[in-house]
Amino acid sequence: MRIILFILGGKRVPFVNTMRTILHKGSFRVKSARLRKRHLTESGFAVNIPTVFHQKGNQLAKGVYIATFGCQMNKYDSEKMMEILAPDYLPVSEPEEADLILVNSCSVREKAEQKLYTAIGRYMPLKKQRPGLIIGAAGCVAQQIKEKVFERFPQLDICIGTDAIQSIRSMVEEVEKKRIRVQDTAFRSGGYHIDETEAPFPALVEGFIPTTFVAIQKGCDHFCSYCIVPFTRGREKSRPVEEITAECRRMVESGVREITLLGQNVNSYGNDLPGVDFADLLHAVNEIDGLLRIRFVTSHAASLNERQMSAMAGLPKVCEYLHLPIQSGSDRILHLMNRGYTSSEYMGKLSRLREYLPNVSLSGDMIVGFPQETEEDFQRTLEVMREIRYETLFAFAYSPRPLTKASKLIDDVPREVKLERLGRLLELQKEITREANRAYTGKTVEVLVDGPARRDNEMQGRTRSNKIVNFPGSPDMVGRLIEVRIVAAYQNSLKGRLLSEED
Ligand code: SAH
Ligand code: SF4
Ligand code: F3S
Repeated sequence: MRIILFILGGKRVPFVNTMRTILHKGSFRVKSARLRKRHLTESGFAVNIPTVFHQKGNQLAKGVYIATFGCQMNKYDSEKMMEILAPDYLPVSEPEEADLILVNSCSVREKAEQKLYTAIGRYMPLKKQRPGLIIGAAGCVAQQIKEKVFERFPQLDICIGTDAIQSIRSMVEEVEKKRIRVQDTAFRSGGYHIDETEAPFPALVEGFIPTTFVAIQKGCDHFCSYCIVPFTRGREKSRPVEEITAECRRMVESGVREITLLGQNVNSYGNDLPGVDFADLLHAVNEIDGLLRIRFVTSHAASLNERQMSAMAGLPKVCEYLHLPIQSGSDRILHLMNRGYTSSEYMGKLSRLREYLPNVSLSGDMIVGFPQETEEDFQRTLEVMREIRYETLFAFAYSPRPLTKASKLIDDVPREVKLERLGRLLELQKEITREANRAYTGKTVEVLVDGPARRDNEMQGRTRSNKIVNFPGSPDMVGRLIEVRIVAAYQNSLKGRLLSEED
């Protein structure tokens, strides 16, 4: 069914909320509350209006606004909270329109933690304008500081930890009924579990794009010495294969064509389950009809093994792309970081991987200015970067985090030195990325089309190697694999032309 909608008036027209429900649940692309006509008329996904109207009767849903910081796991959790809260609460694009505001926080670096406090500080005054407004802290900082967040913000209503996502609805109901503060920061013993009956619709929070995440494990057991994640996400727990494949199928039914399997250390998936490992999971997901591509993050060089490499090479849907952070090039620093490998062990794994997948595209993370890092250690980092040639690299200045082993070491690399090293590293990476991108020119690549690009009459998609490609195209291509010839390469994207349009 195709609908044409003309919405008159501003974003505060109450009808917009109801329409958003319909579009949201009908898998239409809704970029924001400012509904865009072309997405409604051209995406071609069926929407069952009567069903959705029945669900809410004539009552308008309340609005929820979730500010999400941090990694993909947090984005995934935000989407799950949206799913669980629907249809009573539906997403709004401005905090001023919300009846419930949640800040899903990240604690990985000091700066990230601050963002929670700044955000809550900004939203608190809205309580005066909108009586009944509920505000909650979620995510890794909430998990880390627990009830202390209420000391900082006495008017805050909810503190929900990373393992309590499925309680969000009952927590909100409790606040609504009793007007008391609620907190749930317990770690559960079970795996990641979202009750399907509570979450009947795939959340398409950012608007419909045919690619999404599915969590395969919670937590992390690695305890890299700098990292707070094992404390904010708890011990590693794998979701059962059937639960993961069921969620993947549900996503594919709603139009998703590419799934990124999510975990802090996906390679150790299944260590806590009998008779199943990550390679088995890849095989199971590869079987799903209608799914076109599979990716996964994050991989850890210490637990990447031959079975996984062979699965990557043998399974047609698994993309030739790996996020495999090394973190430092210096063995002394890697040891202090408790990464569990030396740089030559990392390089050994990589050359084995390249035997299986000669064209594998890599991305990674790097930390500069770890305690005791000398200029010589840093030079080793630059050297391994030249050897590995990540197509994309995320680099960070070391930030001491509470609870971690490294926080007991003296943070002896001055801030200016950290920033100066970071600058040099990014310069080198720019060069490597530019060269890697240039190598695409003239090549024909397969692009999965995500949606309209910023420029009119252009579409945007990604290659199997995870590069963004913009090319002249039409919205009916969304969710399809299209062959594109690369005609120009930029720092962050490629420009393509449809093969069919070449003479
Ligand atoms: N599980 C993933 C991601 C962890 S957090 C992994 O192991 O790769 C994402 C990145 O943040 C890490 O890879 C690391 O590079 C960086 N990071 C983590 N803790 C940090 C800290 N204390 N200071 C600076 N960067 C940090
Ligand atoms: Fe943190 Fe290391 Fe676990 Fe990654 S593997 S989440 S860096 S402890
Ligand atoms: Fe941040 Fe938590 Fe992710 S600390 S990086 S949001 S796991």
